[in-house]
Amino acid sequence: MMVSSRKQKFGCVVTGVAGFVGSHLAERLLSMGYSVIGVDNFYSGYRENMVSFKDHPEFTFYERSITDPQLLVQLKERHPELRCCFHLAAIVSVPYSMEHPEETMEVNYTATLNLLKESNQLDFKAFVFAGSAAEYGNEQRLPLYEEYATSATERLSPYGEAKFLASVSVGASPRGVSLRFFNIYGPRQDPRSPYSGVISKFMDLAVQGKPLNIFGDGMQTRDFIYVSDVVDAYIAAAGLQEEDSKPVRDIFTSDRTSHIYNVGTGKTTSVLDLAKSLQQLVGKDESLLFLPERAGDIRHSQASVEAFQKATGWRAKTSLRDGLTKTLQWFMQQGGRDLS
Ligand SMILES: NC(=O)c1ccc[n+]([C@@H]2O[C@H](COP(=O)([O-])OP(=O)(O)OC[C@H]3O[C@@H](n4cnc5c(N)ncnc54)[C@H](O)[C@@H]3O)[C@@H](O)[C@H]2O)c1
Repeated sequence: MMVSSRKQKFGCVVTGVAGFVGSHLAERLLSMGYSVIGVDNFYSGYRENMVSFKDHPEFTFYERSITDPQLLVQLKERHPELRCCFHLAAIVSVPYSMEHPEETMEVNYTATLNLLKESNQLDFKAFVFAGSAAEYGNEQRLPLYEEYATSATERLSPYGEAKFLASVSVGASPRGVSLRFFNIYGPRQDPRSPYSGVISKFMDLAVQGKPLNIFGDGMQTRDFIYVSDVVDAYIAAAGLQEEDSKPVRDIFTSDRTSHIYNVGTGKTTSVLDLAKSLQQLVGKDESLLFLPERAGDIRHSQASVEAFQKATGWRAKTSLRDGLTKTLQWFMQQGGRDLS
């Protein structure tokens, strides 16, 4: 693809670049002609996630923590082309956050505030933060509208609380956007992580020919969104565009007072239906193993995606079947790799 001099001079920081979503975002930004400064401390990410772009001439990697003071200021000194920050790095394990609430607050909230402050100081065009559906805690009304998460919401973990506090600050900042992601899935999602979605766990079990573990009756539902749709959402939120595409809608001109948006499909799938779809794809009837319900699991989750669609024109394009097929292909290619 043609890379314009305009884009060569536009750099983006991606924190959490060695992670599942961050690596897909970096790959896309590079393919669009932007330069990418990636930051990660390998807390839950892997070097192998960056294999496809680590040698790209427009990619530079820093093994740093997002808690390092003046991180963005220092990066901007070295890379004057930096104009935008995608902040994805976080402690992503909900169970870990329960055991380590202070560390979770420091990494997921305080560090985010510092990065936001620095990006304002540096006059960045956009600061896009990875919020989470966990910000809605035990909210029962569905679909979930952005306004439902308030300081009075009963959140189920320090992870959810830290994400909520960070989202509120980011969303109120002049060039800040928080995207509250629902259940993301796709290649490179790590089935070993306790936070990892049910899809990566099912895939891992299916390729090993093991029974699929279902907690409870399987009738719990989730809003599953494929990773490339998530990447599209990041690009739209920051107002970036392909070289020859028509100008994108500027999210900051929308009439919302706070730029916090759900990113999901707006559709729900039960865990049991998911297991059956996967059985069909694999072409084998993996047996289902029903285990006791897990404490703290929410029953249903579904995003309202109207606000983000209205602000940017974005919509999720990948069907669950297509997304599962691509994800399964990747897991099968990893067949020889030990993921246990
Ligand atoms: N995957 C999902 O379904 C989902 C849903 C909602 C929100 N999110 C959010 O999206 C973001 C990306 O999630 P993911 O699924 O790619 O997880 P991931 O664990 O694959 O990626 C997170 C990355 O952040 C890095 N990191 C953690 N602490 C760091 C620190 N102090 N300094 C530098 N790097 C650090 C990790 O090493 C890892 O590479 C996270 O903020 C997560 O909370 C994910």
